[in-house]
Amino acid sequence: MQFNAKQTRRALAGALGAAALVLGACATMDDSAIGALRQRTAPLFGTVVPTTAAEVGTPQAQLGRSLFWDTRLSLDGKTACASCHTREAWSSDKRAQSVTAKGEPTALHSQPMFMAQDQVALRWYGDRRDGVHQAERSITGSMGFGNAPAMVDALKRLGYEDQFKAAFPSAAEALTAANYAQALAVYQRTLRTPAPFDAWLHGDNRALTPQQMAGLDKFIATGCIACHRGALLGGDSFQKFGIHKDYWLATGSTKVDTGRFAATKKEADKYVYRVPMLRNVARTAPYFHDGSVAALEQAVRVMAEVQLGKNLSERDAADIVAFLESLTGAIPAHYSPPPSLQTAIAAPR
Ligand code: HEC
Ligand code: HEC
Repeated sequence: MQFNAKQTRRALAGALGAAALVLGACATMDDSAIGALRQRTAPLFGTVVPTTAAEVGTPQAQLGRSLFWDTRLSLDGKTACASCHTREAWSSDKRAQSVTAKGEPTALHSQPMFMAQDQVALRWYGDRRDGVHQAERSITGSMGFGNAPAMVDALKRLGYEDQFKAAFPSAAEALTAANYAQALAVYQRTLRTPAPFDAWLHGDNRALTPQQMAGLDKFIATGCIACHRGALLGGDSFQKFGIHKDYWLATGSTKVDTGRFAATKKEADKYVYRVPMLRNVARTAPYFHDGSVAALEQAVRVMAEVQLGKNLSERDAADIVAFLESLTGAIPAHYSPPPSLQTAIAAPR
């Protein structure tokens, strides 16, 4: 899954070819030039499919929504998934470290939920196979319980049994930790956020500004595309952070994190992370696994420097940031506590 240097160079050389065409001419691009840019770049990406009302309305998705927003389902009775995956941060957290239901800071920065389930593996280290695995493990992690049966007890005490039976009608025992995790994963899969970039890929020439189109071209020409590709612009491979320079020298991180090595103990995994997707990235600051960088423009500069050995001009960095802004979609209306909970409890934050 890891890209080697040769593959990265090859991907770069291919993309560089036509890049110069658009740069400089961007302010006056006519429809045929825009069409050519689309034709050249679209195969490197992909679009986000809008969520349907039917998906949102399934009993499992509705149960998952309750579980995600219910603060009572935690050791301290005050922590929901949404406490660290907040609306105002587009399902991430403005804090570099979040606080668990045990009152302890998380080791790493909270990642966004929107489209997260479509990635090759989950979390910064990629140490969770999928959303079910992630949700099961969060019972004793962020939610603070001693074991999974403690979560099942809490669910029974709070009257969740009927909702589980409706969501899992053929199960001999509907209210289980496995089904808790399943419902959460189903809900999260409905959290998709199409953005202006999708409209542009679908043929709307005005969906991106001239600066954003110049930024798209530079994103490819600079080499970002080697790792941030596909519909999510990332999330599909594991890569070392710090190819040209130790990352902490550029981020100013106070603590050096060993990346995936911490989970696998394999030397080759030192400083390796699952590449984050860039969907909604303009709204999910602070950046990197440790939240060490506050501004997106600085994060872009760090990437160019440590991953590609390049120093971006102010103009190039600003154009790439403008392009990344086009990946911001609307927060789904159902990324909120369901009506049944709004009366039962105070929503987190
Ligand atoms: C205390 C704060 C906190 C709570 C509560 C919390 N999370 Fe997270 N979440 C995080 C942090 C921090 C990470 C990154 C952890 C890592 O990579 O080691 C994360 C990562 C994730 C990811 C991986 C995203 C990706 O791109 O790989 C998913 C999915 C997720 N959380 C879902 C949930 C669900 C579902 C719940 C509720 C059962 C939940 N979280 C509760 C803080 C929290
Ligand atoms: C060789 C692979 C690779 C290349 C090339 C690359 N990145 Fe990254 N990118 C990563 C990895 C890995 C991370 C996660 C680093 C971390 O936080 O541990 C990341 C993180 C980021 C982040 C922070 C995301 C977040 O949620 O915190 C941004 C923004 C970003 N990259 C943009 C870019 C841009 C713009 C370029 C081109 C200038 C680029 N990347 C080039 C692999 C790459």
